[in-house]
Amino acid sequence: MARKIGFSTISIHGRERRKQPYGSLVEPIFQNTTFLLDDLKDLEGIIAGHGFIYTRVGNPTQMILEERMAHLEGGESALAFASGMAAIASTMMTLLKKGDHIISDEVIYSCTHDLFDGFASRLDIDVSYLDLSDPSNLEGAIKENTKLIFFETPANPTMKLVDIKKISNIGREHNLRVIVDNTFATPFIQRPLELGADIVIHAATKYLCGHGDTIGGVLIGDQELVNSVRGGGLKDFGGCISPFNAWLLIRGLKTLGVRMKEHTKNANEVARALEEEESVESVLYPGLPSHPQYELAKEQMKYGGGMLAFLMRSEDDVRRLLGRVKLCSLAVSLGSVETLIEQPYSMTHRGYPEKEKLGIDARLVRLSVGLEDVEDIIADLKDAME
Ligand SMILES: Cc1ncc(COP(=O)(O)O)c(C=O)c1O
Repeated sequence: MARKIGFSTISIHGRERRKQPYGSLVEPIFQNTTFLLDDLKDLEGIIAGHGFIYTRVGNPTQMILEERMAHLEGGESALAFASGMAAIASTMMTLLKKGDHIISDEVIYSCTHDLFDGFASRLDIDVSYLDLSDPSNLEGAIKENTKLIFFETPANPTMKLVDIKKISNIGREHNLRVIVDNTFATPFIQRPLELGADIVIHAATKYLCGHGDTIGGVLIGDQELVNSVRGGGLKDFGGCISPFNAWLLIRGLKTLGVRMKEHTKNANEVARALEEEESVESVLYPGLPSHPQYELAKEQMKYGGGMLAFLMRSEDDVRRLLGRVKLCSLAVSLGSVETLIEQPYSMTHRGYPEKEKLGIDARLVRLSVGLEDVEDIIADLKDAME
C-alpha cells in the first residue's frame, strides 16, 4: 500500500514532486497575462481544462497554489482569488440566484455579513442568521428555497465552534451545500471536507500567507464546483489573484505546519497567563478546558490554533490595554508572525448588527498570537494591564 505523505511534505513539494522549468528548485512566477496558442485546436483543450489562455481564469503559478491547497484540505480541486472576500463573493454569486435562501451562523467576519446583507437585499436573496453552535436550530430554519449553509469555526471574533460533522449531516439530508470558512484553523488543524462539508473557503491573507504581506483567498471543493466558479464568479467578477501574490502564498504554505504548531504553543501559554490576570473575566481559547466547547474542539481540531479572545472586566480596561501594549500591535487582521491585538466592537465588527447580544461586547479583545518569544508577549500584555 502506498505510504501517505505528510502535511508539511505536501505543503513544501506538492503531492508529487514536479520538475520546475530550467531545473529551478523553487516554483517560478509566471508574470504574464496571456498565453500563446499554436492553432485554434488548442482552444478545445483549454476549454476542457488543460492549459491556459488568460491569467484572470488560470495561470501556472496560480495552479501550483490551487493544487497544493486542494491536497492540503483533502479536496478534489481548488481555486485561488485576489482576497478572501473575492473567494466568498465569487462562490456565492455563482451558486445563488434571485429568490434563494441561505443560512449563516450569526457570528461571522463582518465583511462577509455585509456581503450577505448587501447583496441579499439587492438580489432578493433571503438570509437567516442562526446560532449553529446548537445544530438543533438548523432543521426548523430550512425552507424549500434554501440552497446553502455557511459558517466559520472557530468564529471571528468570539471563538465559538460549530460542529462540522453534525451540520454537514443535516445539510446532506436536505441536499444543501455546506460551506466552511476555515481561516482561523487552517487545514493543519481542521479539515472540514473530511468531516462532511462540501466547500472550504480561506482568507489566505491570514495563516496560509503567515507574514502579513499578501492578500488572497482560496476555495476548495469538488471539480464540478471549482469549474463552475472559475467559469462564473471568478471569470465574470474578475477577482483573480496576481501571480506574484500566488507565489508568496506558495512560499507561505511551506512553513504552515511549523508555524501553526508554534502559534498554538504560544497561544496556549498566553491563554493560561491571561486566565491569571485580575482584569480578565474570561478567556476563549479552544485549547483550554475552560472553553465551553472544549470537547468539540478536541474532536474536530488537532490543535487549539493561534487565535484567542478574552473578556475584560470593563471597557476602560480594554482601552488602557490597547493604548499601552508595545510589542503587540494594535491592528486588524490575523495569522501573521507578529502578535496583533484589536477590539472587535470598535474595529473589525464596528457596524455589526446587535453585536452585544452575540458576545461582541466592548469588553472583548481579540488576539492573534504571533511567533515572538512567548515570554515577551506575556510580559507586554501583563505590563499593559498593570
Ligand atoms: C474569517 C475571515 N474570513 C474572510 C475574511 C476576508 O478575507 P480578506 O481580508 O482576505 O478579504 C476575513 C478577514 O479578516 C476573515 O477573518
